Amino acid sequence: MENFVFHNETKLIFGKGTIGRIGEEIKSAGFKKVLMLCGGGSIKKNGVYDQVVASLKNSGVEWVEVWGVKPNPVLSKVHEAVEVARKEKVEAILGVGGGSVIDSSKAVAAGVLYEGDIWDAFIGKYKVQKALPIFAVLTISATGTEMNGNAVVTNEKTLEKFAVSSKALYPKVSIIDPSVQASLPREQTVYGAVDAIAHILEYYFDGSDSLAQNELSEGLIRTIMTCTERLLEDPNDYESRANFAWSATLALNGLTAAGRRGGDWACHRIEHSLSAIYDIAHGAGLAIVFPAWMKYVWREKPEQFVRFSKKIFSIEGDGEQAVLEGIEAFKGWLKKVGAPVSLKDVNIPAQDLDKIVDNVFRRDEPFGTLKKLGRSDVRKILEIALE
Ligand code: NZQ
Ligand code: ZN
Repeated sequence: MENFVFHNETKLIFGKGTIGRIGEEIKSAGFKKVLMLCGGGSIKKNGVYDQVVASLKNSGVEWVEVWGVKPNPVLSKVHEAVEVARKEKVEAILGVGGGSVIDSSKAVAAGVLYEGDIWDAFIGKYKVQKALPIFAVLTISATGTEMNGNAVVTNEKTLEKFAVSSKALYPKVSIIDPSVQASLPREQTVYGAVDAIAHILEYYFDGSDSLAQNELSEGLIRTIMTCTERLLEDPNDYESRANFAWSATLALNGLTAAGRRGGDWACHRIEHSLSAIYDIAHGAGLAIVFPAWMKYVWREKPEQFVRFSKKIFSIEGDGEQAVLEGIEAFKGWLKKVGAPVSLKDVNIPAQDLDKIVDNVFRRDEPFGTLKKLGRSDVRKILEIALE
């Protein structure tokens, strides 16, 4: 096990009927006016917006609204919201929605206190050390953004989808009421599951060894898989929503990272290029890339891949066959729940591979922890992802 510091800045309020507490949380933290950032309108249909507004009113918190954050959120919307936040002199940012809304809220919170273009933070020209306080009401469990310091935004002019990470970007308070996720379209539940599992696997397969972390990770993965299957049967199954939601938060709040080597993150890096170019859902892209990456790199630490086969899919044996069966079983499960598993499934043709590789290497190379990947490695992984 590697040395680690576990320190999470976010206060998390979890459970049915908890959204009404957001106003008091903002007020008791000393803020009187917030910018509320929202997505495309799902929160108006499922009652989340009404609950938030009632709570702000009851607590005497003023707010201004900016709507229209889209999935794979774009920089221009961040710029727009920064302008509004400055003009309206808000004291904090409240994101109400999914990862896209909350990530954008973080970029806005940092952007308001930075004189230049906040994109500088995404390309490494500026290190975020301060941001307005961030509050979040989460409506889809997937990214873990509700309890971490990461934000991912796409610069739609350059087609760069990059992440920024800072202690200043942890939400001060996040509220998760799993019951409001009953309105999610089936595929969004599935993409959320894939993303959360991928976060766990990024750490699980980073070459580190820790029995506690392995067992913890495997338990979370099995929980997410079981709950996903149940939710596809019954989207209103609260216990499954709740267990799924909590597992997805734990997948990327530092818990599964403790004692590891920082995670591998090659699959995320490759996926971000797919969603930057083709605007596909992040979870969909991960379902395509992850099994292909596993097939390409497993020889770097075969025993961990054997363990994955055994602990997740009850596959016995300790050689190549067990590893490959485990990867196929993972792919099979992804297919079963309705995720795409090949670039073909999302209509990305073979002739696009070079373009994708170019986008992946917009930044430093090589990358990856378990195996350092250069251009030819990524090309080969994409070729496997075409199968
Ligand atoms: O925009 P609205 O109308 O709200 O609809 C959203 C959107 O269409 C809908 N939705 C959300 N909650 C709903 C709902 N529909 C019905 N009922 C509800 N309760 O779901 C769609 C997807 O929302 P989005 O916020 O895009 O999903 P997600 O949370 O998966 O976020 C994905 C983004 O986060 C980034 C991804 O790359 C992607 O850009 N990531 C952020 C990370 C982080 N901050 O730590 C890490 C991840 O690896 C990831 O990269
Ligand atoms: Zn992810």
